[in-house]
Amino acid sequence: MDGEIDPRALRQLRHFSRHRFYLPVLQRFPAGTLRFAPWQAEGRRMLRNRFGIPEPRGRVQLTARHMDAILLPLTGFDAQGNRLGMGGGFYDRTLAGLRHRHHPLLVGVAHACQEVAALPLQPWDVPLALVVTDRYTFRCRPACRAARYPHQQ
Ligand SMILES: Nc1ncnc2c1ncn2[C@@H]1O[C@H](COP(=O)(O)OP(=O)(O)OP(=O)(O)O)[C@@H](O)[C@H]1O
Ligand SMILES: [Mg+2]
Repeated sequence: MDGEIDPRALRQLRHFSRHRFYLPVLQRFPAGTLRFAPWQAEGRRMLRNRFGIPEPRGRVQLTARHMDAILLPLTGFDAQGNRLGMGGGFYDRTLAGLRHRHHPLLVGVAHACQEVAALPLQPWDVPLALVVTDRYTFRCRPACRAARYPHQQ
């Protein structure tokens, strides 16, 4: 959406041929959180949510703690792993309060030009562990591993 980098080609990579992919589905309860539904074969119809983003129709919807990794779209990021989203707080709400052992690997996916020197961090922002861009990949600096996993507000 809106110029975010398109990760769809990932699914075609042989390395991921045995992986299962899910797409986010916006929830009414708890409001403004995401669950994850199986990404069905190309051509299967999807339903658009209130932002016009297509979502799978399947009934299976898992929570974030069931994901091994989550690829997060973003507007901007910095080397500490701080992430600026679209301002809805959907990923922050979804990831809030997850215990460390249930924490999926959080991977920001971005264009390299979206990197900025530093982003202001809000108490509820959940930092990224890894950022993959069209130009490079990096593990966010150890400072961000002092990651706070905020509790539900
Ligand atoms: N854990 C939380 N519990 C309740 N509200 C939250 C939580 N995290 C964020 N929010 C709300 O979401 C709003 C937007 O957050 P923020 O500006 O960080 O969005 P974002 O990270 O850019 O969005 P997104 O993750 O959807 O891309 C905040 O003002 C806050 O009110
Ligand atoms: Mg945020």
